[in-house]
Amino acid sequence: MPYAPEHDEVPNPLRPGLRAETPPDPCAMVVFGASGDLAHRKLLPALYNLALGAHLPAAFGIAGVSKSPFTHQEYADGMREAVGKFSRTKPVDPEVWRDFGAGLRYVAGPFDEDDTFRRLAAQLEEVDRTRATRGNRLFYFATPPSTFPTLLKKLHEHRLIRPRNDSRFTRVVIEKPFGRDLASARALNRLVLEVMDEKQVFRIDHYLGKETVQNLLVFRFGNTIFEPIWNRQYVDQVQITAAEELGVESRGRYYEEAGILRDMIQNHVLQLVCLTAMEAPVAFDADAVRDEKIKVLRALCPIDTPEAVAQRVVLGQYTAGQIGGADVPGYQVEKAVAKGSRTPTFVAVKLGINSWRWDGVPFYLRSGKRLPKRTTEIAIQFRRIPHSLFGEGASAPNVLVIRVQPEEGIALRFSAKVPGERYRPRTVSMDFRYGTAFAGAPPEAYERLLLDALKGDQTLFTRKDEVEAAWKLVGGILGVTESPESPPPFSYEAGTWGPREGDALIASDGRAWRRP
Ligand code: BG6
Repeated sequence: MPYAPEHDEVPNPLRPGLRAETPPDPCAMVVFGASGDLAHRKLLPALYNLALGAHLPAAFGIAGVSKSPFTHQEYADGMREAVGKFSRTKPVDPEVWRDFGAGLRYVAGPFDEDDTFRRLAAQLEEVDRTRATRGNRLFYFATPPSTFPTLLKKLHEHRLIRPRNDSRFTRVVIEKPFGRDLASARALNRLVLEVMDEKQVFRIDHYLGKETVQNLLVFRFGNTIFEPIWNRQYVDQVQITAAEELGVESRGRYYEEAGILRDMIQNHVLQLVCLTAMEAPVAFDADAVRDEKIKVLRALCPIDTPEAVAQRVVLGQYTAGQIGGADVPGYQVEKAVAKGSRTPTFVAVKLGINSWRWDGVPFYLRSGKRLPKRTTEIAIQFRRIPHSLFGEGASAPNVLVIRVQPEEGIALRFSAKVPGERYRPRTVSMDFRYGTAFAGAPPEAYERLLLDALKGDQTLFTRKDEVEAAWKLVGGILGVTESPESPPPFSYEAGTWGPREGDALIASDGRAWRRP
């Protein structure tokens, strides 16, 4: 079904879902971790879709770098296959691929060897010559975090990172997790800023590329009727759920190091908290938006003592169970997971925000793997009516549910009179669905973010102080939960909504989790 553009949009005939705009400046992009999962599943399909929509610069080339020994052609063939499999638009358009594929290069070599970077530099010069990319560079670190310092050092030593004021731009996109605690995030930030300027750094959090997440800003600050009630006077509690059916799949090695707090809370979920709780920015630009988000992070009540953790945090780990009727194994027997592992795959947190707007309003966060369904939502639950005219307990509180995924949309639940003689209220829902209001699939998060990085727009990327403030909270929790004296996570059966203790956390406040 075609995307129905709003009246003031310039539709792009080639590509539904994104506006036709001036393409970014010519650029050669370098993907470190070129043979990895992220490059296959997300980056190359996103770049191909940008090419399909004529959003890429007219002069563009990609150099993939990783250890595996491929020729240029073998790499291009592998990427053609990956795009065929993972692209949101199918089948691959042979004409678009011809030019896109012709711009793909590959450099094989370890990241700690100078020779790799000498060959990369030569390759980039060749791309500049043959693809007219004019010396502009976008480096993408799609690699494990342990490689980030080496990559930065080598790029710097080989003069591949040019100063910000050079006429040719250099930008670096760094994947999450950015550090593994506050100290390492600070150290990494120091290293990054030794070799480039903050304006050249793009710390990526793909949740910010999701249409529904960006819409939070429009919903809150593009309407008059929600802001006056978006505060402690009207809101009783906020619940944010990021649930997945998937387990750790083939990522056991990474996940053992990360766990749910580093994998989901420090970045994606706290970003949702920021966008839900922030004040209106003075302008819609990168620094103004990020200035407001950082205020939320700074106002979070710290959770860094055993007492605070006991009152506000519940960790869980899945055991064998059933998802969608199929048996699934427990975390402890997943590939590359240590026997007796204490890595949490579920967390429930009760957050407090010390601000005039939110004082006393709990933000309950919940995220986990192997939960009954994949769903991410933000539920704003309003206070109960002060006095019911229609019988005790007859009126449930209003709830505004922002469905980030799937079935993207926004629903407002309110009481309505059941037809008939008596005044019997029942909760009904007013529902906005993206799929119906704007026909056609929205672009993938990575498409939007790659395009922004190519254009140099940092609004949807996290700033140095933001990343550190998020680690301050999460590092405080980890400092307690990862100490040897701390108890192991509670068990929960795969296919359930986490351990019972997660329910008790919120029940002790006289509340209950929503069932999304
Ligand atoms: C990633 C995490 O950042 O986000 C994964 O590393 C998680 O563990 C994923 O599955 C969830 O993203 P999405 O877009 O599927 O909600």
